[in-house]
Amino acid sequence: MKNSNCDVNLRKVAVIGCGFVGSASAFALMQSGMFSEMVLIDVDKDRAEGEALDISHGVPLNRPMKIYSGEYKDASDAAIVIITAGAGQKPGETRLELVHKNVGIFKSIIPQINECNFKGILLIVSNPVDILTYTAIKLSGLPENRIIGSGTVLDTARLKYQLGQHLGVDSRSVHAFIIGEHGDSEIAAWSSANVSGIPINSFCEMRGYFNHEEAMIRIADSVKNMAYEIIEKKKATYYGIAMSVKRICEAILRDEKSILPVSSMMHGEYGIENVVLSMPSIVGKDGIETKVPITVNENECTHLMKSANALKEVISELEF
Ligand code: 2OP
Repeated sequence: MKNSNCDVNLRKVAVIGCGFVGSASAFALMQSGMFSEMVLIDVDKDRAEGEALDISHGVPLNRPMKIYSGEYKDASDAAIVIITAGAGQKPGETRLELVHKNVGIFKSIIPQINECNFKGILLIVSNPVDILTYTAIKLSGLPENRIIGSGTVLDTARLKYQLGQHLGVDSRSVHAFIIGEHGDSEIAAWSSANVSGIPINSFCEMRGYFNHEEAMIRIADSVKNMAYEIIEKKKATYYGIAMSVKRICEAILRDEKSILPVSSMMHGEYGIENVVLSMPSIVGKDGIETKVPITVNENECTHLMKSANALKEVISELEF
């Protein structure tokens, strides 16, 4: 199945990086049935081959799909190329501390994608994802709408899950975003949070909770620090991010025009530019259609600016 420019196979996906996150993402995508072809690429060719073999043995139990390990040239006609390659956080390590090593890896990966005359969507997952999405934009020269970072999709899912548990409702009926950096400076956009249109504080009171300030701080901190907690216990996180990757791929492939907090370049929104942040955006077949200017209060806007400045400081040390 090719799209109009015939250079893209809409049923094909490529995953670059077959570590915990890449292999879990590949497994989630295989289970989804969205694609009929998947190529796994890794500098460790045995790893890529092993993951391809292991996942492909589930095909008779799922639905037909070609899954194989390959080279960058095999990704050239993929609808989506997902980059998970790079070092992951060690216990206690911040995502930003990975920047120099992982920017170096991207300086090797992106030119190889460029050589393939890639016409699809680039989905960046490696951390620090906002900085690496900025790096991919600068190094690839692809149209910005076709470069998406997984951003705070996972953080937002964590927030919805915790609020759903706290309020005793289906977390899918909770509408709240984590925005800014996918990392320590992220912000919970409480001022626009609601449960099926009911402002979050009103819904909390319906459920017998009145100490809003304490609950918001506790829940937002828990979400922000969740990766550290999981990494302390199991050395890495991968299922939550894999499901986030699947969700973003669904929105692209099915042209869903879903609103997801993905990473993209800021161009003056909230007075911020020349930095990549995770903000609610409409995601469809051409990648990011537009950002959605959710309402943020003064405090949230101040923290968003702080998040942007923290990332700009890191970017200022990089050379492209
Ligand atoms: C996470 O938030 C480590 O960024 C990854 O789970």
